[in-house]
Amino acid sequence: MKELIPSPPAIVRNDVAAVQALFQKNVVPSYGRFDLAFSHGSGSYLYDVAGRRYLDFGGGIAVTALGHAHPAITEALIEQSKKLVHISNLYYHEPQGRLAEAIVNLIAPGKVFFGNSGAEANEGLFKVARKFGHDEGRFEIITALNSFHGRTLAGISATGQEKVKKGFEPLMPGFRHVPYNDLEAVRQALSPATVAVLIEGVQGEGGLTIAKTEYLLGLRQLCDEHRLLLFMDGVQDGYFRTGRFQSFQRILESGVPAGFVPDGISMAKSLGGGFPIGAFWIRGPYADLLGPGTHASTFGGTPLGCAVALKVLEVVRAENLADNARQMGEFLKTGLEQLAKKYPQVIRDVRGLGLMLGFELTPGIRSFADDPTKTQAVRFVNLLHAAGLLTIPAGAQVIRLLPALNLRQTEAESGLKIIESVAAKLAH
Ligand SMILES: Cc1ncc(COP(=O)(O)O)c(C=O)c1O
Repeated sequence: MKELIPSPPAIVRNDVAAVQALFQKNVVPSYGRFDLAFSHGSGSYLYDVAGRRYLDFGGGIAVTALGHAHPAITEALIEQSKKLVHISNLYYHEPQGRLAEAIVNLIAPGKVFFGNSGAEANEGLFKVARKFGHDEGRFEIITALNSFHGRTLAGISATGQEKVKKGFEPLMPGFRHVPYNDLEAVRQALSPATVAVLIEGVQGEGGLTIAKTEYLLGLRQLCDEHRLLLFMDGVQDGYFRTGRFQSFQRILESGVPAGFVPDGISMAKSLGGGFPIGAFWIRGPYADLLGPGTHASTFGGTPLGCAVALKVLEVVRAENLADNARQMGEFLKTGLEQLAKKYPQVIRDVRGLGLMLGFELTPGIRSFADDPTKTQAVRFVNLLHAAGLLTIPAGAQVIRLLPALNLRQTEAESGLKIIESVAAKLAH
């Protein structure tokens, strides 16, 4: 049989510099990349072009929910691509309807729109809000400081971090930022033009801050009182990463009366386990606001993307990966907390829920003083790379762990050992 994936040409074998040169000459340099080039992966491991193995605790930034090269994803890609890859949203097909039904069943009655990315999912929510408030002249959306909502123009306008906006002004009008977990600040920011509030349940890029129960419940009440839509960006913290489908379900699971539901939720990242697919869910009363001809996406919810997403969901359920994320998350968090106690001069805090974890570095780590041009987080991540572990910096001081939901205990143990080896070296 012909090889499905032909072997890479010689240039990508054992030659990071050659791959980097291709990028330097031909790829827009909008990313700050690490000096690593990968050729393949298997489960929670990635292999670079020289064949060196790395334990992947970054998961493609919360994307590869089933790890790398999962046979169920390969099979879904092959089987569906033999039948139908794309037909356009002028027509119906079963996988999109089935995936929408599955998402609705996981949240609450409503409907789903499919796109390709987190930014596009948020754009859809912004358009729902604009449509909802249009006839009353309401258009303003309140978001949180330190939030992250994507890199489109509306996405950077919605994001509560100056660094993503700089140089791209004028921004989209209609966004106000207030401190996170501060209900009073939202109340103070209300104006006659306010139409919606958008927050993350766990701020990812902003450094792993979890929404408080009272904040979520208070926002729901405030939005109801002022006829505002309450949106949650579940792009990074969603998809079972915290132990439940959405992070608010996890945050509110103990001691709170059931019934809290936002009005809209954006999702992407893990939804296709690495295959690009995004979506937003919108609650029943608002589900038909975007009528025929008002919103579209050529590649949104293709038969191929939806078939893969349905398969990922099937595996998550069959293998109880939500529970695994909760258990492995607890195990890793406990291990990191022990490291923070043992090496307080290196790690000063551990935060997160399930397999969305972060540890904050102690300011002024002595060995990092020689190069102030790089953040402590980047320096630490580089040391972890050298020791064979991939992680993701969040801001200047926090290291994020977003591994596959099917992470094994032995892999979690190996990761902790590597983090300890780096922390121990820096502590001296
Ligand atoms: C919370 C959140 N929202 C939106 C986005 C944007 O998603 P995408 O990069 O798929 O457009 C991200 C990406 O990191 C995210 O973390």
